[in-house]
Amino acid sequence: MKLKTDFLIIGSGISGLSLAIYLSKLAPDEKILLITKESLHESSTYHAQGGIACVWNNDDNFDKHIQDTLVAGDGLCDEKVVKKIITQAPERIIDLIDLGVEFTRNANGEYDLSKEGGHTVRRVLHVNDQTGQSIENTLISNVKKLSNVEIKENWCAVNLFAKNFRCYGVYVLNQESEEIHNIAAKATILATGGAGKIYLYTTNPDIASGDGIAMAYRAGATIANMEFYQFHPTCLYHPYAKSFLITEAMRGEGAILKDIRGNEFMEKYHPQKELAPRDVVSRAIDAELKRSGDDYVYLDIATQRDSNFIRNHFPGIYNTCLDFNIDITKQPIPVVPAAHYCCGGVKTEINGSTEVKNLYIIGESACTGLHGANRLASNSLLEGLVTAHECANTLAKEIHGLKIKEFPEWEPGNAVPSTEAVVLSQNWDEIRRFMWNYVGIVRTDKRLQRAKKRINLLLDEIDQYYWDFKIEKNLVELRNLATVAKIIIVSAISRKESRGIHYNLDYPNKSEMSRPTTLRRPW
Ligand code: FAD
Ligand code: SIN
Repeated sequence: MKLKTDFLIIGSGISGLSLAIYLSKLAPDEKILLITKESLHESSTYHAQGGIACVWNNDDNFDKHIQDTLVAGDGLCDEKVVKKIITQAPERIIDLIDLGVEFTRNANGEYDLSKEGGHTVRRVLHVNDQTGQSIENTLISNVKKLSNVEIKENWCAVNLFAKNFRCYGVYVLNQESEEIHNIAAKATILATGGAGKIYLYTTNPDIASGDGIAMAYRAGATIANMEFYQFHPTCLYHPYAKSFLITEAMRGEGAILKDIRGNEFMEKYHPQKELAPRDVVSRAIDAELKRSGDDYVYLDIATQRDSNFIRNHFPGIYNTCLDFNIDITKQPIPVVPAAHYCCGGVKTEINGSTEVKNLYIIGESACTGLHGANRLASNSLLEGLVTAHECANTLAKEIHGLKIKEFPEWEPGNAVPSTEAVVLSQNWDEIRRFMWNYVGIVRTDKRLQRAKKRINLLLDEIDQYYWDFKIEKNLVELRNLATVAKIIIVSAISRKESRGIHYNLDYPNKSEMSRPTTLRRPW
């Protein structure tokens, strides 16, 4: 089926939904189609816990927030972008409040500000420990009221149609009818989130398979800084807990890390101890686990705060851990580091524009220059919101110069229904395992080269499968996952230093001539 729309938004996290809201207001006569590959709320946004960073009270100022962001970014942030995003934060937070987000208040009725690693002051607005759920639900209920926005769930973008650095639209798998639709648009905006599913252990939900980054790469866009995949220090360690994060805000409220024998260890690694930047804490835990051979370390809030405080501040974590028979008011929480956030992405301006005309990328899939070599906690919801706002302004201004142009229908060739689903699950497992072991928290040249050999073999196999068999969501995701894995490996090999989150034992120091890594097709 051939479809047309003025603006096509792909993804329903904070960036896609807030873009729909801003754009609908600025361009009320245009048709906006928002598609998402599962149900509307499925997104990393929904799972965000800690909150959203913003200069909010008199103890803080923009210079401090900018400085903390630059320090975390370890020399690779784009300072102009950092300033622009951080100084816009209060206005964008007010937008969220106006839409109905009820941030947690303290006993005086003021917004309660929490603290996370790398922040020198308390500046994180939150809704208890379920900030993302509250933001996502509020945005969804607002988008559903917009008359010029049409929503399609379970529509999975398969590939962009782009020629000579111009994007015409996208091929989409309608998972109910199993048809591939061809959607032509004046502008296509990818708000498809991160790629944590590339790693064996991740805090990310299943949707995070790097689809937008892989699609934009195939369309000719430049990809930047993909070696900087951030690992969160504290993901719940339990055989039945899938990807459950224990927020950094818990360390902000005094929780301490201990080995399983009860010894504290963070003072050996950084003067800020538990509140050191994330890369430092993740590497410290990794080093302790490698040294001891243990499977996990403990995060202990029980001995630091009384049980009422813990239950009131962290109700989501309290209840989830209780489901696994861990009472966090009485016991320490077993935790391990896990892949969490893609600091790199498609190279964009702050408004999401790319080198491919009519193609925009916003949110976690984009690399605006805000995060550099390591993201400061709670700056990503903010980036999604600000880039959505900037993107809406640009699209509304450019609307009259944009035209819908049709493109050929999907060519299924001789594809037949898949007979060997086992190939997909085997390849998927293999990638995630070697990415964790060879391209994880601590890297070496030898491990990276091993990973490169394996991904090249797998890419050939997956490509063959892609053309021979009928398209299904698993296959689309696996192909994208493999492409993004290769981009990460190639980027990591090209960085001959250790900086921010990228740590290579063969180059343990920083180079003086460091630049962002950029990569364009073919590799
Ligand atoms: P997402 O929210 O991930 O949304 C992506 C959307 O794209 C989804 O709807 C998905 O289904 C859709 N999609 C993907 N591929 C396709 C496709 N092929 N076709 C159609 N649709 C597609 N950041 C903070 O600032 N503060 C926090 O406290 C915080 N806590 C976090 C906790 C967890 C557990 C996690 C995982 C992340 C956390 N982050 C936090 C990071 C932050 O949540 C994300 O970076 C941010 O929500 C990304 O928003 P997004 O709109 O770019 O993508
Ligand atoms: C957390 O709550 O620890 C996650 C915050 C973030 O990733 O920004």
